[in-house]
Amino acid sequence: ERIVLAYSGGLDTSVAIPYLAEKMDAEVVCVAVDLGQGGEDMEAIRRRAVDCGAVESIVVDAKEEFAADFCVPALRANALYMDRYPLVSSLSRPLIVKHLVAAARRYGGTVVSHGCTGKGNDQVRFEAGLAALAPGLKVVAPARDFAWTRDKAIEYAEARGLPIETSKKNPFSIDQNLWGRAVETGFLEDIWNGPTEDVYSYTSDPAGPREADEVVITFEQGVPVAIDGRALTPYQVIDELNRRAGAQGVGRIDLVEDRLVGIKSREVYEAPGAVALITAHMELENVTVERDLARFKRGVDQRWGELVYDGLWFSPLRSALDAFIAEAQQHVSGDIRMTLHGGRATVTGRRSEDSLYDFSLATYDTGDTFDQSLAKGFVQLFSLPTKIAAARDAKNG
Ligand code: ARG
Ligand code: SIN
Repeated sequence: ERIVLAYSGGLDTSVAIPYLAEKMDAEVVCVAVDLGQGGEDMEAIRRRAVDCGAVESIVVDAKEEFAADFCVPALRANALYMDRYPLVSSLSRPLIVKHLVAAARRYGGTVVSHGCTGKGNDQVRFEAGLAALAPGLKVVAPARDFAWTRDKAIEYAEARGLPIETSKKNPFSIDQNLWGRAVETGFLEDIWNGPTEDVYSYTSDPAGPREADEVVITFEQGVPVAIDGRALTPYQVIDELNRRAGAQGVGRIDLVEDRLVGIKSREVYEAPGAVALITAHMELENVTVERDLARFKRGVDQRWGELVYDGLWFSPLRSALDAFIAEAQQHVSGDIRMTLHGGRATVTGRRSEDSLYDFSLATYDTGDTFDQSLAKGFVQLFSLPTKIAAARDAKNG
């Protein structure tokens, strides 16, 4: 039998290679997906899988695909789970699943495997994705199904001489990609402990002294297409903003969140590009989206974020919400100017051919075309239901 393993290069999935091969008398094919994770050498990861005993080991470059097909839809939905978390890990799992399934077909795999535990969200995202794309494949999750603990994994790796930098010293569980970075476990499990600077790697200390950075982001129908007038792909936009907003300490998030499995967990995130882009995109929507559509979309955005957090990327509801969002992005085109500084991305200017902002209606100076005489009757009728109800309540004491 052949097992196709979603390989990260870390301890748990490295140990899984010889363990699964032995336990299930199988050949292990490793798939590492390049999602633009900062500072990781994908070729070294590919070779490490071979050194751990994989019969095949591939790296899939999915950076542009991840940016265009996952980060951009999340941006158009202003997706922030619990109003804060930009869905970094939640967005990556469905794409990893897609490439796992492709590799299973190519290499004759009948079983797929991932390194998630039984108490997290990621197992759900992997397996809900598999249920949609390849229900015939079996799943094995060694950390969950064979109750592996971290210390047991380290012991096993040492006993076998597996080529892992023994990470007893690195107490964190880290997941990172182009859209951001998630750090948990270790001393962060005490939710009174503040994160130390060494937790972060995408962002500099927001308090550090430095010059502010001004950036102009251009959107076409809710898709970022240029920075400072230079046309870029979605991947390039996010990558550049990770660097520029990251240098200003933008996008640090420390959150106790509600997992789908019912527990609350504490996670520290850094998502400089995502936070800068969502801030810019929301403001461009404020300028270009009609009031009732904008109000309704806020509810759609929240549902979209919850659905994707909960692992239901490949669901009919997500497709239907995306159709609504696409319609709502029709006019979300134009430029947003922001200042990146001191941990914040602050909008300072907007311009759009599709703007609904009408200077002559908004101005309090001469040139005002808003007919204030219409307002008096409007206010009277608008408040009539409350007036009638208040009169009834006064009469009934
Ligand atoms: N809590 C985040 C989520 O559910 C991140 C999960 C992965 N995090 C990690 N440090 N391994 O999307
Ligand atoms: C895990 O438990 O495997 C990582 C965290 C998560 O999935 O939420």
